[in-house]
Amino acid sequence: PRARIVIDRDFTVADVPRRLFGSFVEHMGRCVYTGIFEPGHPEADERGFRRDVLALVKEMGPTVVRYPGGNFVSGYLWEDGVGPVADRPRRLDGAWHTVETNAFGLHEFVEWARAADVEVMQAVNLGTRGVEEARALVEYANHPGGTYWSDLRRRNGASEPFDIRLWCLGNELDGPWQIGHKTAHEYGRLAQETAKAMRFVDPDLELVAVGSSNRQMPTFGSWEHTVLTHAYEEVDYISMHAYYQERDEDAASFLAESVDMDAFIEGVIATIDAVKAAGKHTRQVDISFDEWNVWYQEGLQTDDQPHLVARQWREHPRLIEDTYSVTDAVVVGTFLHSLLRHGDRVRIANQAQLVNVIAPIRSEENGPAWRQTIFWPFARIAELARGRILRLAVESSQIATAKFGDVDAVDAAATWDEGSGRAALFLANRSLDEEAAVTLEVRGLGVTGVRGAEVLTLPEGGDRHSANTQDAPDTVGLVPLRSVGLEDGTLRATLPPLSWAVVQLD
Ligand code: AHR
Repeated sequence: PRARIVIDRDFTVADVPRRLFGSFVEHMGRCVYTGIFEPGHPEADERGFRRDVLALVKEMGPTVVRYPGGNFVSGYLWEDGVGPVADRPRRLDGAWHTVETNAFGLHEFVEWARAADVEVMQAVNLGTRGVEEARALVEYANHPGGTYWSDLRRRNGASEPFDIRLWCLGNELDGPWQIGHKTAHEYGRLAQETAKAMRFVDPDLELVAVGSSNRQMPTFGSWEHTVLTHAYEEVDYISMHAYYQERDEDAASFLAESVDMDAFIEGVIATIDAVKAAGKHTRQVDISFDEWNVWYQEGLQTDDQPHLVARQWREHPRLIEDTYSVTDAVVVGTFLHSLLRHGDRVRIANQAQLVNVIAPIRSEENGPAWRQTIFWPFARIAELARGRILRLAVESSQIATAKFGDVDAVDAAATWDEGSGRAALFLANRSLDEEAAVTLEVRGLGVTGVRGAEVLTLPEGGDRHSANTQDAPDTVGLVPLRSVGLEDGTLRATLPPLSWAVVQLD
């Protein structure tokens, strides 16, 4: 394939929303327990936080982390997770059919988030609970003191407020699987009233209403429309969730799934704006894409599937610990491109999840931690996407796919930071067997050279299924991209087949 791309300082999408590089920690499987938190592990600090995992989290660079769920939050009593650990109740978690010990809760997460240098994005339970518990939690977390809930926080060891600004009004309440599943009318009204009551306690909150659990939901579109018709004035974002996987060995279609992500995002934007117009609103509601990733939900042989551990009532069993391949990493790169290209309206995004559960980082109990393949595009984009998102003009050879028809062989996104004079170009070659010759015309950015270039592709002797494992954690990673140069304002790069690359210019 060949691709010609033009970037110009005058054609920009938006500032890079740094919250686009978010992640997600749910009380599910081994994300919290034996993931970020494992007292007794040789790497654990005095609070039980695993230092090895924390170091990888910092290297990956998420900016904001959603907590504590996910499906889990729809049956969660947040009070169970505060106060002396010995007094905290053990509870059945109906979402994942496990026993929640509550050894880790809000205080621990806030401390962990500080150690990881990430913003907290807190979800409230609107499945089994409602307005009262949500406003109590805001008072507990954000009120300085002198009231019942804020004084309880202080007695529990946090004299300063947690100052949590970003809140999710429930999780996936459109889904029949959700504890406390609701119709769009029921949820829209509840979200509206909960938002109001939370803001009575603390007016400076940013609130995310629940959108559709995926694009295939029968209520997709009408759900967003109804919810926003009720709650448009009270919320700042509506959520999107999407998980993708390869089906029927159709790698070409899988590698093009960001086409679906683009269309999903554009559909939600259209719905938001239709409600805005009809309701004569002037404020803008944006998107929080607060769960996205590759997740092999169908056709799996592994024994860590939720239905297999259901009703065993174990503590933190292995759940959906998918191992990611080179192909998955390239697809994840293209998802991040899609999010960036829509950065004017998608202002928050959270890869789901952070550790062990469909995660870029894996850890073993009493054992090591390592980076999965998908760690790499996230880490580099989170580090290098700075300044403004550029609007690209792309002309690319096409690849035929069963699911999407012809799609661009080369997928790209780019950012430019005027202050530092640096630009970053992110590229994927979707061809499984051919190199891609890319030329990029750079207009007006003032860059003169290639500062660095790296590529993730098939490892030597490996294939598109190659992955990182506990025994071979560095099989797939970034290696220098040598076939790249910038001369007279034109960058030329050759991308290996099935690859994701980053080129830095200055
Ligand atoms: O991330 C795993 C699960 O996927 C979350 O708990 C839920 O919100 C979604 O269905």
